[in-house]
Amino acid sequence: LTRRELLVAGLGAPALLAAPSDTVQFGLIGLGPRATVLLRSALPLKRFTVTALCDIDQERLAAAADLVATQSRHKPATYGGGPKDYLNLLARRDVDAVLIATPNEAHAQMAIDAMAAGKHVVSEVPAAVTLEDCWRLVRAVEAARRTYVLAENCCFYRENMIVRNMVRAGLFGETAYTECGYVHDTSDLQFNADGSPNWRSQRAQEVGNRYPTHAVGPVAQWLDINRGDRFASLVSLSSPSVSLPHKLRKRFGGDSPQAKIKFGGDSNMSLIRTAKGKLLQVKYDPYSSRPHISTTYHNLQGSTGSYLDQEGEQRIWLEARSKKYEWQPLKNVEADFVDDLWRRWGDQATQAGHRGSDFVTMAAIMEALAEGKPSPIDVYDGATWSAIIGLSEKSVKSGGQPQEFPDFNASRAC
Ligand SMILES: NC(=O)c1ccc[n+]([C@@H]2O[C@H](COP(=O)([O-])OP(=O)(O)OC[C@H]3O[C@@H](n4cnc5c(N)ncnc54)[C@H](O)[C@@H]3O)[C@@H](O)[C@H]2O)c1
Repeated sequence: LTRRELLVAGLGAPALLAAPSDTVQFGLIGLGPRATVLLRSALPLKRFTVTALCDIDQERLAAAADLVATQSRHKPATYGGGPKDYLNLLARRDVDAVLIATPNEAHAQMAIDAMAAGKHVVSEVPAAVTLEDCWRLVRAVEAARRTYVLAENCCFYRENMIVRNMVRAGLFGETAYTECGYVHDTSDLQFNADGSPNWRSQRAQEVGNRYPTHAVGPVAQWLDINRGDRFASLVSLSSPSVSLPHKLRKRFGGDSPQAKIKFGGDSNMSLIRTAKGKLLQVKYDPYSSRPHISTTYHNLQGSTGSYLDQEGEQRIWLEARSKKYEWQPLKNVEADFVDDLWRRWGDQATQAGHRGSDFVTMAAIMEALAEGKPSPIDVYDGATWSAIIGLSEKSVKSGGQPQEFPDFNASRAC
């Protein structure tokens, strides 16, 4: 068997690892701005090749095909024949893995179909939007024995990896709580230029935290969720919708259909308790009228350390490293804890989006797929973090009643 046959057969066990020059052949499904950013980040990586592309939008399909042809001197096959044409891409023998960057509701089914076709999956966030789809996805990955990666790029932020390494080195002592959030006014993205609604507008009409993984992914890693502790229960409440309707009245007029839509709330706050009793505060605020500073924040409190990532500035106090009981910039104490991925890729990464993390995310994923390493963010983490969508919706609708987390991770042990 060649390495590629082993990879496709799902037998790429560590003893049968790829040579470093080996490549993974990708098919991309969904070619919007997000896929384009990831494509630009990944094309310089030697192990990344693109053999096929799929989008229902012909312009985007042609633009992505041009980008691949120009940068890699290889013309990919294209699939633009409708919402199910991705199944034809999945049938290709020269596709080892797919990158799914379609609207959120489509991720789970496309990943499940890709698994059934024997492909590895790299999925944009979230992994799924319903609890049922979280379970279906977990079962599909277990049945297919292919690698599933949730491409949660905030886990690859340089500073978030530094804090993770500090936690593992014991510098925070016993961890107790985290605060994290996604705070980014995306009101302008809900309607197309001609005023027609898109999938984001539909999402805005639903209640709860509809996009939790950027906030919760890094802090779940810090707290060893699914690796010694687990999310146990969640309560969630939402604010009324005042900012989004206000902006739509200004943009489309008070009598417009857009201004009459009932939205699910500008801001949502969830509290999660872990099985060990730790506390997470998770904010989702995608519509409040508020100038943009930083899309996410991730704070951590431990018995011997405290980390504050606020408004784009990262400060820390560590009993073992700080001379005084005062905050200092993370930069002052980071040297020993910069992650190996950033040491190797940092210079190239600085040009890429999201503080360079888009490049490091793709580099890490390519290493995992090409070398048969474990998924950097597997389906159990993906399902656990994405389950916040369905659980927060239930909690908000029940006036803030606690919701138990499904234990997706239990089936990993079986
Ligand atoms: N990780 C991040 O930082 C980050 C940033 C932005 C967006 N995202 C995520 O990436 C995904 C895509 O975001 P976007 O801004 O590019 O969205 P988008 O709506 O602009 O692009 C999605 C693309 O998918 C295509 N598509 C829809 N249905 C399809 C189908 N059945 N078959 C093939 N193609 C189909 C659409 O035509 C469109 O081109 C979303 O899930 C979003 O949440 C992640």
